[in-house]
This record gives sequence, structure tokens and C-alpha cells, in this order.
Amino acid sequence: MITSISVLLSLLVLALAWWGWGAHSTGTRGALPPGPTPLPLLGNLLQLESRRMDRVLMELSGRWGPVFTVRLGLRPAVVLCGYAALRDALVLQADTFSGRGAMAAFERFTSGNGIVFSNGPRWLKLRNFALGALKAFGLGTRTMEDRVLEEAACLLGEFQATAGALFDPRRLLDNAVSNVICSVVFGKRYGYGDPEFLRLLDLFNDNFRIMSSRWGEMYNIFPSLLDWLPGPHHRIFRNFAELRVFISEQIQRHRQTRQPGEPRDFIDCFLDQMDKEQQDPKSHFQDETLVMTTHNLFFGGTETTSTTLRYGLLILLKYPEVAAKVQAELDAVVGRTRAPRLEDRARLPYTNAMLHEIQRFISVLPLGLPRALTRDTHLCGHSLPKGTFVIPLLMSAHRDPTQFKDPDCFNPANFLDDKGEFQSNDAFMPFGPGKRMCLGAGLARSEIFLFLTAVLQRFCLLPEGNPARIDLTPHCTGLGNVPPAFQLRLVAR
Ligand code: HEM
Repeated sequence: MITSISVLLSLLVLALAWWGWGAHSTGTRGALPPGPTPLPLLGNLLQLESRRMDRVLMELSGRWGPVFTVRLGLRPAVVLCGYAALRDALVLQADTFSGRGAMAAFERFTSGNGIVFSNGPRWLKLRNFALGALKAFGLGTRTMEDRVLEEAACLLGEFQATAGALFDPRRLLDNAVSNVICSVVFGKRYGYGDPEFLRLLDLFNDNFRIMSSRWGEMYNIFPSLLDWLPGPHHRIFRNFAELRVFISEQIQRHRQTRQPGEPRDFIDCFLDQMDKEQQDPKSHFQDETLVMTTHNLFFGGTETTSTTLRYGLLILLKYPEVAAKVQAELDAVVGRTRAPRLEDRARLPYTNAMLHEIQRFISVLPLGLPRALTRDTHLCGHSLPKGTFVIPLLMSAHRDPTQFKDPDCFNPANFLDDKGEFQSNDAFMPFGPGKRMCLGAGLARSEIFLFLTAVLQRFCLLPEGNPARIDLTPHCTGLGNVPPAFQLRLVAR
């Protein structure tokens, strides 16, 4: 009897939800661009989850055009596909598209705090503050370049120590990349064998993988349901909690050892600002904001850059002729007695093209990070209301056949003109375009250049087996494109 009543009640709730959703959907659908027909409650989930979401969305664009609507469960999402739509929205209407759309997995951890997932005045204040503080600690200057070069020298030492044996480069790359941002944020770097730090890097890596898996995708669509279901997605929050403890301890240590007004690093700068604004009840500089902002820089500054370097090495293992051409160019322009520097970039067109091509080809964040409309607008003949959740399909710009000669293959010629000179391309947008563009884009590009050229200058890269057999298909995709695990051998040149 009780079971029948619960079944009846569940059906009633479902019917009401469906009815409510239907009414809501007709209301918004009138305003939103058309898209594939959704199922009750599930939306377009079955289509989207059948294969890689980035690919499915690109295919749907073939039928529905560059701006269309899909339903992620009950939530409508407007997809921007292809360079022109992304430019028209995120660049030409930069303010209107500068809101951040919520992702349930991050929302539960950040509660909309920090830079990446905040909105409105708080976002603007924190973003400008972080940019200013990072600049004060050398971002975009020769000091930072020297810091990266020092770290590259440490990384080469670790690579040398592998003595030609097969090894997985993931942790060493994570450690090297993370040390650069750690020196700015925490004022220190960590040894490559430091177990506490390796644990943190594993937590980042684990979270990036889970969020780039079906579990992560499903959590962002049905958070309340998945909260009750067992699965690896629960690890995301355990990992976040552990990271929070580490960051809070760092902040505590800074509080105990700082000299107010004499900041040593980003955390000290933030604490100084908290002091300045302590009488202001509306101040955005609070304890929790410091934790989240630090997490944004620490996680953002580690995982994407390190994944790009790792994927880059895998690609170069598959295409040894490209690696050889880069090495020949480095030998001719830089030689082997000093490390390549950023100022050499202009005289290294093939190397520069290869690095852009790696980022284009892998699209490490294929769906970008979601945006939200800050006001009503029109786009490509559609009207979009304020608050609309937007998916900027960055990968679609990178694979746009109107923008690249050879969009589906790895080919550095995509960034070279007929004379072999480097050719930039506005459709290259791994860091997202517009007002929300990645705050660490300059640092990331410098790191990618300095680390990869340092490795190629010093070593020949040898794969585990036949290069032709290397599969470049991402191992996980969703939030990020994560390469398959691999091993390589490095032999001194
Ligand atoms: C290859 C490396 C990187 C890639 C591909 C990447 C990509 C991105 C993308 C696609 C976004 C979203 C932009 C948008 O909404 O359109 C973003 C945002 C962000 N990134 Fe990065 N990123 C990288 C490295 C870094 C580094 C090194 C840092 C830290 C110094 C960083 C910190 C951030 C922050 C704080 C945001 C949020 C910006 C905002 O919402 O205003 N990222 N990144």
C-alpha cells in the first residue's frame, strides 16, 4: 500500500515537473534559438551523452546552425558554434556575454566565490585585483621568464636523471608547471619528490579527470540526483576539501609571518587589501574569497598548462618529423649553448606554429567555461534573454574549415603562410575570447614555449612503440580533453 502511494506520488511529482518544465520551456523556447527536440526531464541528454559531447554539439550545429539550444536535463543551454558566432557574441558583444554560467560541481565548492565562478562587481574587482597583484610579482616581465627558465632547468635535471629509461612525464610536468604559479601565489616552490605536494597535484589531476568524464558531466546536469547515487563524482568534493585544508594552512602561515604592507606574494597582497577594507561591510576581500581566489590561480595555473605540455609531448612522439624540424630551427637560431628565450619566438616561425597547433589541435577546454548573459540581446537573428546559459564551443573555432587549411589534422602549416612565416589567426582561442578571457593566458603561453623548447633543445623524444600506432584520441573528454597515459624515453642530443 505504502509502495503504491509512493509510486503514485512520484508519478505526480514527475508529471508536475514535466508540466512546469513544459510551460517554462514554451515560454523560454519562444525566445531561445531552435534546437533538437528534448525528452521530458532528460532534455537532449541521450543525444549528448551518446558520444563525445564536443563532437555531438558540432554535428548538431550542422543541422541547427551556429547558434542553437540544447537541454541539459531541465536547463536550456545556447551553444555557440564556429568562429563567426563565437566572435559575434564573445568579442563584439563582450559585456553582454561576460557573465559566468554556473557548473554544479564547482558551484558546490565555490558558492560563486573567487574569480572564475563569480559574477558582477565581485568578479570585476577580484579579476582586476588578481591581474594587478600578479603583475606586481613579475607576470609578463623578464623576472617571470627567468623564474620559468629556472624551473625548466630543474625539470631538465629530472628528465636527465631518467637516463633513457621509459617513464610517464605527468607528475614531473605537473610539478614544474605548478611551481611557477606557486612561487607567485605562495611565495615558494616545492621539490619534485615532496610527498605532500605530489598528493595535491594528484588531487588536481583526479578532479580534472572526473570532471572530464561522464560522471562529471552528469553531475553538472543532475546534481541533486547524483548527490544520492554512488560513483567517483563524490571524490571531486573530497579532493576539493583536502585542497581547501592545504590552502587554508598556507594562508594561516602567511598570517603568522607577514609584515603588513610588505607583500611577499599574492596571499600577502590579498591580506593587505583585507586590512585596507576591513571597515567596509561590502568589501569583497574576505577569508573565503581568498581561499577561492587562491584555488582558482593554483588549479587554473597548473592543470590546463600541464595537460597541454603532456599532450604536446605525445603529439611530438607521434610526429617525429615535426619534432626534428623544430630542433633544426632551434639549433639554427638559438644554438645549444643557451636556453631559448621569449624574445627568440619572433625568429622561430616553425616552432611558434607548432606550439599554436598543439593548442589548437587538442582544445584542452573544448567547451570553454560556460557564460551567462548579463542583459537581453540579439545574436544571429535570435533574441536571447538575460541570464541565458551559454556554451562557447571553443573547439568549433579550432576545427572551423573557413579559418584553418587543415582543421582536422595536426599540421603546423595551419599557422604558417606560403613563405613559411608564422601566421596568427583570430580563430585560435584556447583561452577563450572577450572579457572573461583566461587571466593566465600570457603566463601559460610563455610556459608552453619555454618548457617545450627547453626539452626539445636538449633531448630526442622516443616513444614506447611504433609512433604510427600512437592514438591521440583523448582518454577523457568533457570539461577537459585529457590525453591517454603514455611513457616515453628521453635521450640527450
Ligand atoms: C594552457 C593553459 C590554459 C588554458 C588553455 C586556459 C583556458 C582558460 C579558459 C578557456 C578560460 C575560460 C575563459 C572564458 O570564459 O572564455 C579560463 C579562465 C581562467 N583561467 Fe585559464 N587557462 C590556462 C592557464 C591558466 C593559468 C596559468 C592561470 C593562472 C595564472 C589561469 C587562470 C584562469 C582564471 C583565473 C580564469 C577565470 C577568468 C574569469 O572568469 O575572469 N589559467 N582559462
